[in-house]
Amino acid sequence: MFRMRHSHILPPAFCIFLLTYFLLVQARHHHSHTKHKHSHSHKSSKTSQPPSRNASVVFNVQTFGAIGDGIADDTESFKMAWDTACQSESEVNVILVPKGFSFIIQSTIFTGPCQGGLVFKVDGTLMPPDGPESWPKNNSRHQWLVFYRITGMSLEGGGLIDGRGQKWWDLPCKPHKGTGETTSTRPCDSPIAVRFFMSSNLTVQGLRIKNSPQFHFRFDGCKNVHIESIYITAPKLSPNTDGIHIENTNDVKIYNSVISNGDDCVSIGSGCYDVDIKNITCGPGHGISIGSLGYHDSRACVSNITVRDSYIKVSDNGVRIKTWQGGSGSVSGVTFSNIQMISVRNPIIIDQFYCLTKDCTNKSSAVSVTNILYTKIKGTYDTRSPPMRFACSDSVPCTNLTLSDIELLPSQGFIVLDPFCWNAYGDLQTLTIPPVSCLLQGTPQSLLDYDITRC
Ligand SMILES: *[C@@H]1O[C@H](CO)[C@@H](O)[C@H](O)[C@H]1NC(C)=O
Ligand SMILES: *[C@@H]1O[C@H](CO)[C@@H](O)[C@H](O)[C@H]1NC(C)=O
Ligand SMILES: *[C@@H]1O[C@H](CO)[C@@H](O)[C@H](O)[C@H]1NC(C)=O
Ligand SMILES: *[C@@H]1O[C@H](CO)[C@@H](O)[C@H](O)[C@H]1NC(C)=O
Ligand SMILES: *[C@@H]1O[C@H](CO)[C@@H](O)[C@H](O)[C@H]1NC(C)=O
Ligand SMILES: *[C@@H]1O[C@H](CO)[C@@H](O)[C@H](O)[C@H]1NC(C)=O
Ligand SMILES: *[C@@H]1O[C@H](CO)[C@@H](O)[C@H](O)[C@H]1NC(C)=O
Repeated sequence: MFRMRHSHILPPAFCIFLLTYFLLVQARHHHSHTKHKHSHSHKSSKTSQPPSRNASVVFNVQTFGAIGDGIADDTESFKMAWDTACQSESEVNVILVPKGFSFIIQSTIFTGPCQGGLVFKVDGTLMPPDGPESWPKNNSRHQWLVFYRITGMSLEGGGLIDGRGQKWWDLPCKPHKGTGETTSTRPCDSPIAVRFFMSSNLTVQGLRIKNSPQFHFRFDGCKNVHIESIYITAPKLSPNTDGIHIENTNDVKIYNSVISNGDDCVSIGSGCYDVDIKNITCGPGHGISIGSLGYHDSRACVSNITVRDSYIKVSDNGVRIKTWQGGSGSVSGVTFSNIQMISVRNPIIIDQFYCLTKDCTNKSSAVSVTNILYTKIKGTYDTRSPPMRFACSDSVPCTNLTLSDIELLPSQGFIVLDPFCWNAYGDLQTLTIPPVSCLLQGTPQSLLDYDITRC
């Protein structure tokens, strides 16, 4: 009740409320614990069971009526299972999607905060209605499974989330297949498979997810996110099927995962910081991207991002930073370390002229790019474009780019295109293959009186 009445108040008040709630729970927990100890000393101790609070309770969606025959609509059963688990006061509440069954559910928002911790355990298969024709008219076409205002949840299991994207990718409004980059910034309203919104302390682990109509995972306004051992697959030519997109999200770990799809493997949007990506295998796809940032003259701040010990294969890009002309803010403190490239078209690229149409004009402001380290980047590149490209804006040059231990060879033939630099300042710590002679030294004068980069 208390929670319900406060479900529409504004964020600051909401934070105070959460804190109060948290303290109440703590106090209650502490109280029962003390009481337990107390009574213990007075009774002959027959049992050393903890207080009445259950450690873990399982809520199987089938006990709420879900059928799981791959035909029936099980949305209502999932909602009931969620509501019950969310209101349960046990420490861990497991919503079980059992193995050997396929459940179809419509676009649903699973809302918190919940009383205890949650585990959404997908051991079976979860699917949305098949394509835009079967999508209920009153459902959102932007998202399928949404987790909103959750604190402390694990999405896990040995099952499969199958986005059934084919019919969405075939929509006539989709960018033409095979042209690589999309031609439209609006992905003509196809659902993101799994979305976390304004949530914290999240774990996503061990799951397989395939063929999302649009992005597979998207995190907005989240904090403390740990993604571990997940497998994402979609065809090379499926439009906008980014693997994991984060936006306004911080304290993110993405480890030991494998992603192949038709767009960015991982993309990092505005407002992200403290992101650690380690041991991921990307490709085919469009590589790992920071951006695009600064769209429609927006302000973007991205900092402290590390990508290490990873593989990128048969991709349009390797590690990319992309910003539109216009905008403000900065990308700073980025480390790309120990990355093996296999036949990648633009292994190392900064593109401050990012544009999806042919008619973007140059502007006098930009999201600045500074303090970027590339170290131990090795492997092969596709000779259709240069192995390194630093295309920085005229108004705000890139600064303090550091290259060390770079060894990039053509995947076929002997054509070695020279690295490309435009308005890029930085240093080489070691000799590189191929040699880079186009970086500018020092600090550009123009930057000293440029103030809007501050974040
Ligand atoms: C603990 O679990 C049992 C069995 O699942 C259930 O009957 C009981 O209501 C639970 N108690 C609490 C406090 O959740
Ligand atoms: C959509 O309409 C159906 C039938 O009228 C209703 O049961 C369902 O709750 C609606 N869903 C949403 C998300 O409004
Ligand atoms: C969230 O995680 C942080 C760091 O691990 C921890 O300190 C905090 O207690 C957690 N909060 C909740 C509500 O679980
Ligand atoms: C890297 O990730 C892969 C795929 O999940 C896993 O099989 C492998 O054990 C991981 N390597 C290390 C060193 O953790
Ligand atoms: C950068 O992010 C990492 C987590 O990825 C964190 O441990 C570290 O403290 C951050 N560094 C700074 C300077 O904030
Ligand atoms: C924008 O600036 C770049 C670098 O100066 C230049 O190569 C490009 O032609 C310009 N584009 C337009 C549309 O003026
Ligand atoms: C240049 O960037 C590196 C990280 O790549 C950082 O350690 C160093 O402090 C930066 N130098 C300046 C002058 O900001």
